[in-house]
Amino acid sequence: MMRRLIIAIDGPSGAGKGTVARAVAARLGYRHVDTGAMYRAVAWKALQQGLDPRDEANVARIADSASFDLEQGRVRIDGHDVARAIRTPEIDAAAAAVARHPAVRRALVARQRLLGSGGGVVMEGRDIGTAVFPDADVKIYLDASPEERARRRAADPAHASSQGAQLTDVATALAARDKSDSTRAVSPLAIAPDAVVIDTTGTDIDETVQRVMEIVNWRLKTEG
Ligand code: DC
Repeated sequence: MMRRLIIAIDGPSGAGKGTVARAVAARLGYRHVDTGAMYRAVAWKALQQGLDPRDEANVARIADSASFDLEQGRVRIDGHDVARAIRTPEIDAAAAAVARHPAVRRALVARQRLLGSGGGVVMEGRDIGTAVFPDADVKIYLDASPEERARRRAADPAHASSQGAQLTDVATALAARDKSDSTRAVSPLAIAPDAVVIDTTGTDIDETVQRVMEIVNWRLKTEG
């Protein structure tokens, strides 16, 4: 019986993490866990309760106590289906603020470890290979040029900002989020030393999926 791996996929927004992680999970029959959706759902609930996303203690209470359902593309927090509601410019900004709080990260990282500890998981985020599962079996870091990432985000039908948004506005917001994600004190977006870096600029998503599958298959083979 083949061991079921932990596969970490990190990188900035618009690098193609979601599409690649979903496809790889489907091919392997693994679970796909989108950890960004957890930060977004916590931000959604905080705003719903009239909290300031910068209010660390109260936001951390939500991260600690909420129930999440992230199975099969669902995103539910405490029973609310927020799959669409969390893809807005307002939540983009609130989630980045929420993700800066050490207490929020502690709570969500603990939950992510529980979700992935048994293996058979493709987990995507910013700190999966560096902080959540530093011993992950496969670590991929996906990247793309800022221009390409902004283009993809603007063309993403799942994202509310894509409706009539100017590409320059999307690029500006993305750059602000990149800065917030990579300069925060706790678990900033960073490349794990043992990650395989794949630049997806100008490449077909299927090519990237194929590349990741080769790395996974090699890993499975060398396990014996
Ligand atoms: O991947 P995303 O855009 O849905 O992530 C939403 C926010 O959460 C973004 O600001 C990055 C942050 N995030 C994080 O800090 N750590 C993760 N593991 C996943 C997302």
